[in-house]
Amino acid sequence: MLEKIKECLCVCNITEERTQKEYSEIISTLFDKGYFPGLKGIPIVESTISNIDGEKGILTFRGYPVEELANNCSYEEVCFLLLTGELPNKKEQEELRRKLLTHKKVDSKVTDLITNMDRNLHPMYMLSTGVLLLQGSDNTSFNIQNQKENIERVIRLIAKLPTLIGVYRTNNPNFAEGKEFNSFAQYALYCLDEGSSQNQKLVDIFEKLLILHADHTINNSTFSVRAVGSSHASIFASIASAINSLSGPLHGGANEKVIKMLEEIEVPENAEEYINNKKSQGEKIMGLGHRVYKTYDPRGVYFKKELLPQIFNDNNPFEIDSSLEDLYKVAEEVEEIALKQLGSKGIYPNVDFWSGLILKAMNIKSNYFTTIFALGRIMGWSAHWLENIESKSSIFRPKQLYKGSEIRSIKK
Ligand code: ACO
Repeated sequence: MLEKIKECLCVCNITEERTQKEYSEIISTLFDKGYFPGLKGIPIVESTISNIDGEKGILTFRGYPVEELANNCSYEEVCFLLLTGELPNKKEQEELRRKLLTHKKVDSKVTDLITNMDRNLHPMYMLSTGVLLLQGSDNTSFNIQNQKENIERVIRLIAKLPTLIGVYRTNNPNFAEGKEFNSFAQYALYCLDEGSSQNQKLVDIFEKLLILHADHTINNSTFSVRAVGSSHASIFASIASAINSLSGPLHGGANEKVIKMLEEIEVPENAEEYINNKKSQGEKIMGLGHRVYKTYDPRGVYFKKELLPQIFNDNNPFEIDSSLEDLYKVAEEVEEIALKQLGSKGIYPNVDFWSGLILKAMNIKSNYFTTIFALGRIMGWSAHWLENIESKSSIFRPKQLYKGSEIRSIKK
């Protein structure tokens, strides 16, 4: 059947090999199942924001490889690029930095609610709730027709995201009172750990980590932003739903779970048995595998080759706890075994596999890891929300295959 599908695609002038392969898979799934479980591989929008080549392990934002952006750009530059399509000049970059640092303050009506939240509430649920609460100070947010105003609204929201985290973490609405910050990344790190934010080397690493997370095509949380935004819901409703989606362990929540897993394994010698047990129970190993990449995730490669050596080497300028060094050794062993056992199936470490070790070195508690993913990804989510409006997308409304009972009557 695949050959027949290929012939049909050629007749329709679809001749590029990769597209032919993807479309053939979609059409055979349709014949085979009649629906698309998890929308796997289904194109749902046209977008110009980011692109992935999952076979070659390439990720670009607006055409620039993510490694180049991490090596050369600030958070503000990448934010401007994602929101507008082009890198800013010096003045535009400074202007965005000024706006982000000016709008970081959150209204006391919101901070009062945050400081009264149950301390057991996971920081990701605080964050999505906090984002919704911010709508209260923006009574024009339901008018989404003006893109210039939308961009300004997005910038104000991005500015406040770390503040929500800082208020909840310290239980103090004035935790940053009187402090000056050189960059948005430094402020974001301050909200998570004051001490680390005073170390420029750590701020640089943190900034690169945020950039690596900034966008990733139509993943689960970005799909949520697009789906919710397509009903013309506000940016607050759309981003809150994305944060909730990201919290799941099969998505961004994996970074927190990876550290738990490494702690559970304890020493490298236990890694093989742990992996074999998980596999025999049909359970997933956290931090491995990806829907799109069938090779090493380029963000994972960047962590491994560029960022981790800056922390875990003898000449590094920070104090690294020996227990963290041990976790790093466990991670290296898990990676080696996973590559041997699962690499041939296209399962490799993903972005979440390594990021937790870096955040732990910054003294950040693991239940805050996924909020940091959100601090990076909010740039991409916002760009997708804006693009959805720009493209006048129709409301998302897929369909189901109904398998329930025929019409019946209540018999009393
Ligand atoms: N550990 C062991 N086996 C795995 C893993 C894993 N982490 N991931 C996939 N596989 C295996 C599956 O068991 C399956 O094997 P089978 O064909 O023999 O049944 C095969 O690979 C395909 O797996 P699917 O679950 O169908 O792949 P899918 O594309 O649906 O899922 C996902 C991708 C959700 C990321 C999955 O790999 C996973 O759950 N990984 C662990 C959680 C994780 O790290 N999530 C973060 C992803 S990155 C991000 O979202 C930021």
